[in-house]
Amino acid sequence: NLSPVDRAKFIAARRACDYVEDGMKVGLGTGSTAAWMVRQLGEMVREDGLRIKGVPTSSRTAHLARETGIEVISLDEAKWLDLTIDGADEFDGDLALIKGGGGALLQEKIVATASDRMVVIADAAKEVQALGAFPLPVEVVPFGWQTTKALVEETLAGVDVLGREATLRISGDGPYVTDEGNYILDLALRRIGNPWQTSLVLNQIPGVVENGLFVDVCDVVVIGRPDGVVEVRD
Ligand code: A5P
Repeated sequence: NLSPVDRAKFIAARRACDYVEDGMKVGLGTGSTAAWMVRQLGEMVREDGLRIKGVPTSSRTAHLARETGIEVISLDEAKWLDLTIDGADEFDGDLALIKGGGGALLQEKIVATASDRMVVIADAAKEVQALGAFPLPVEVVPFGWQTTKALVEETLAGVDVLGREATLRISGDGPYVTDEGNYILDLALRRIGNPWQTSLVLNQIPGVVENGLFVDVCDVVVIGRPDGVVEVRD
């Protein structure tokens, strides 16, 4: 009894598990769609004897993976991965992504970049003409974050985007803190004309650790629709 959007996420996650082969080292993404994939892989481990080693992209995913019976190793133990499967907040026609809605963008980017292949799983509503309607998450160090925020907004004046307001992500009564102990600024860019340039410019700013734009990282997007149809884009 899943909602239509959960059903779309579920079928995309299930199809993406076809990419997983015995003996692989697999990066395990974060978020509600990736959680379906982790549960499915856990079932394949327990019931079909699939042997994989998983590298989680967050403490949340590490917990879930262990719970479902997947052997968890660190990225440094794995060194390099065969495949990463992860969700996304938006994807465009070039398979560029916005990620980090769930706050795990830094580990997600490190893990995806250390993989032979990145497969993204998403419901159809996440496809966009141009990235940017979803606020772009940018991970910043807590030291001097307000100065960094001002510098980010100022720097964006020279970039092909429509908006440049940055908001500190809040959780409860304080800043949201990432697994790496940093803060997140959510950038209302509205439309990102050049994702590659935007990503490079943001990462030049001292205090910025990483941003949620994934350009030339994703190889395949598996798109699930509420009516049960799955489309594979590569
Ligand atoms: C986590 O930091 C994000 O990058 C997620 O992959 C993204 O937010 C997608 O999440 P959902 O699958 O929950 O929509």
